[in-house]
Amino acid sequence: MENKRKICIMGMGYIGLPTAALLANRGYQVHGVDIDQHAIDTINRGEIHIVEPELDTFVSAAVQSGSLVANTAPSEADIFMIAVPTPFHADKINEITNSPIPNIDYVVDATKQIASYIKPGNLILLESTSPVGTTDMMASVLIKEGVDIDSIFIAHSPERVLPGHIMRELIENDRVVGGVNDESTKKAAEFYRTFVEGEVLETTAKTAEMAKLTENSFRDVNIAFANELSMLCDDMDIDVRELISLANRHPRVDVLNPGCGVGGHCISVDPWFIVDSANGKAKMIEQARRTNDYKADWVVGKVKAQMVKFEKEKGRAPTIACMGLAFKPDIDDLRESPALYIAKSLNKDLNIVAVEPNINTHNELKIANLESAMEMDICVYLVAHRQFNRNNLRKYDLDFCGLETC
Ligand SMILES: NC(=O)c1ccc[n+]([C@@H]2O[C@H](COP(=O)([O-])OP(=O)(O)OC[C@H]3O[C@@H](n4cnc5c(N)ncnc54)[C@H](O)[C@@H]3O)[C@@H](O)[C@H]2O)c1
Repeated sequence: MENKRKICIMGMGYIGLPTAALLANRGYQVHGVDIDQHAIDTINRGEIHIVEPELDTFVSAAVQSGSLVANTAPSEADIFMIAVPTPFHADKINEITNSPIPNIDYVVDATKQIASYIKPGNLILLESTSPVGTTDMMASVLIKEGVDIDSIFIAHSPERVLPGHIMRELIENDRVVGGVNDESTKKAAEFYRTFVEGEVLETTAKTAEMAKLTENSFRDVNIAFANELSMLCDDMDIDVRELISLANRHPRVDVLNPGCGVGGHCISVDPWFIVDSANGKAKMIEQARRTNDYKADWVVGKVKAQMVKFEKEKGRAPTIACMGLAFKPDIDDLRESPALYIAKSLNKDLNIVAVEPNINTHNELKIANLESAMEMDICVYLVAHRQFNRNNLRKYDLDFCGLETC
């Protein structure tokens, strides 16, 4: 155990904890840090506070063997990794682009917290998805905190795992690694090659930052295309899914599936980081963001129209169940979820119930089980969870997520 390389990971969330548990099972001595005492206590019991397949097995093995210990304070290590949130400010708007402003306060705080533990030769890694320039900014913060940055290595390696498959993708995905200088890039790449089976691709810190923002903007723009099509097709009384399956028979066309919007704290957030810094030049990326956000409002309008139709035909107001709240199928993550936004919007004037098989309670919404939701007049399918089935669609139900037939 004495010879193990030590790694201190700041942030024990969806990225930090799986990474900590994986590394602890791959010969590293891991010190996991979070500001959330509940998360720390849960991890130290060998349990998990987030839902992710296989994570429980990795955490319990790592804690039992003593190679993963969690705490609210950092400790000395060979490698420091920052995996804290990078949301946008809730109360600040970029006045040029009328768009949200990235909030990198968590990265700054975590950087300051590790500063006094850093020793010459240490490798400092930023994994949080970050606006271009954040890794250089981290270096500036460390200088202000009295760290000799010429004696350490600083790099960014954005995480690109898919929730639900994190434990596998942490190992199998190709990895982009960019340092603030060539030596930092090389040190960081060496580290990732100790556990990544995909290719580790070396570049600069800025390019690595922009690569991650590009990946998520690419997804956002392509989903916006599908969402725009879905709204146009609705006006034309065309089944958008049939249309897309036909168009995709063209050998060079691959239209994505429309949904009730775009959520999660990656794809619905990161493109704004580009828009914010582009002074009005990121027109397509900005429009895609706005189209995907608008799609959720459009869904609310369609539900209200369906209610009017029901009332006209049945002579009474319908009861409504929103099916799914998470931002994508089969996870419990509600962050930036358009389904949650739609359910809350409807719940403002109506007394709706929501079915979300991956959570038990919600502070604003009444969570119902699948059976009782079937007693509601209109089920509004927002997320294609595996528990929902196309065969169950009834006359007034609405499917905005493309349910499968099981
Ligand atoms: N979740 C994903 O699928 C995913 C995928 C790729 C990239 N990312 C990026 O990774 C980063 C982390 O995302 P996440 O999903 O793990 O977030 P998360 O909210 O699940 O976890 C972040 C954790 O950091 C903790 N934290 C905040 N400030 C801290 C501090 N100063 N010291 C220690 N802990 C602190 C929080 O309490 C939280 O538990 C973000 O930049 C995100 O955009 C996430």
